[in-house]
Amino acid sequence: MRAEKIFAGKTLAILSGGGDTPAINSSIEAVRNRASMLGFKVYGILRGWKGLLGDGDVVDLTNIAYNGIYGGTGLLSSRTNPFPSKKNPEDRSQQILRNIERYKIDVLVTIGGDDTNGAAKKMYEKYGIPVIGFPKTIDNDLRTRTIHHYQGKQYETVLCPGFPSGAMAIKKLTSKLHTTNESHQRIMVLEVMGRDAGWLTGTAVFGGAQVALVPEVEMTKERKDFFFEHVKEQYMRSPKHSLIIAVSEGVRWWNEEKQSLEMVYASPDLDEYGHPRFGGISGVIASEISKKLGIEARGQISGYIPRSGKCYEYDRRLTSTLADKVVDLLLREDYGKMPVMRDIVPYSELEEFHTDAIDMGNNRPVCRFLDQHHRCALSYGVYPRIPHCNSTGIR
Ligand code: F6P
Repeated sequence: MRAEKIFAGKTLAILSGGGDTPAINSSIEAVRNRASMLGFKVYGILRGWKGLLGDGDVVDLTNIAYNGIYGGTGLLSSRTNPFPSKKNPEDRSQQILRNIERYKIDVLVTIGGDDTNGAAKKMYEKYGIPVIGFPKTIDNDLRTRTIHHYQGKQYETVLCPGFPSGAMAIKKLTSKLHTTNESHQRIMVLEVMGRDAGWLTGTAVFGGAQVALVPEVEMTKERKDFFFEHVKEQYMRSPKHSLIIAVSEGVRWWNEEKQSLEMVYASPDLDEYGHPRFGGISGVIASEISKKLGIEARGQISGYIPRSGKCYEYDRRLTSTLADKVVDLLLREDYGKMPVMRDIVPYSELEEFHTDAIDMGNNRPVCRFLDQHHRCALSYGVYPRIPHCNSTGIR
């Protein structure tokens, strides 16, 4: 007897938008494989929403080999917003609708953060386009409402594909920086991606960074005074007279001259979702340390290192598990949703029954500042389990 493919004759399209991560190809491969098994014809839309503008830029993914371990995104990416923005006031959603019609797309899977998936949610709510979001963020800044069971307690945490591979890269990079730093008895300020969330920066602690500054905590005048005292003490106490401080690119830092909190930008330009480009806070902090404490300090920007390179095994497991939940949503025709990890339990038990689906879009962390749980989670080193990292954050 031949099994009937329930979605035979239907088309599912996948796009990826926003900053890349090492887990996007893995997500595409996992969703494509499962959708093909259900009988869908699978299209890939190139360059995020941009691939559905004009005449469209679409490739057939149904029967081609796809390498999910290779990092980045084979479908390419952009920060295109189909809806009016400050940068581009034109409403291009009608072009998207025309192409959805033209390519006969029945379901759209959008791999993205809150920007890409927020636009998809609007397409669903305004025009009834069946969409499913797939989480993607190197900053780990989507509120996934994941519960981490840790030493008998439960913590709300965040776990998005891409972050584990990025975290490994930051841990490795930090571990390497010690030798050069120790040779010059310096303080190194390592800048890490993270506009609103300090998860990635926090993982530098697993590579031996002694201090981490995250965007959830504003560096007010009072906090800065304490910071300098603490840095001096840590440096003097360290056996090799060297210290690594990790800092998120989006940290707000008290500017003595202007008497205000400031962020440091690499460029004043905003993208179509209204985001500026950060860069340079590490240099500002390093020069203030040198001036105030008389200790040689250097800034180091880790830049695109966490986003680059291959997809680690943990992310492979994560993307397959979430893609299983996509199948569940497809079978129930439950759209406007995004699969998430519901629980974090020991690594070997990452199973489908630990997933959930939440409304997609509008999933930024609730508040910029740490609540009690997050504060505990950070100080106790409660992070999503990353192979080779211990849970105390101590080398
Ligand atoms: O996707 C978010 C992010 O990783 C931010 O942390 C960072 O500011 C931004 O991307 C930079 O990306 P790009 O330079 O590629 O626009």
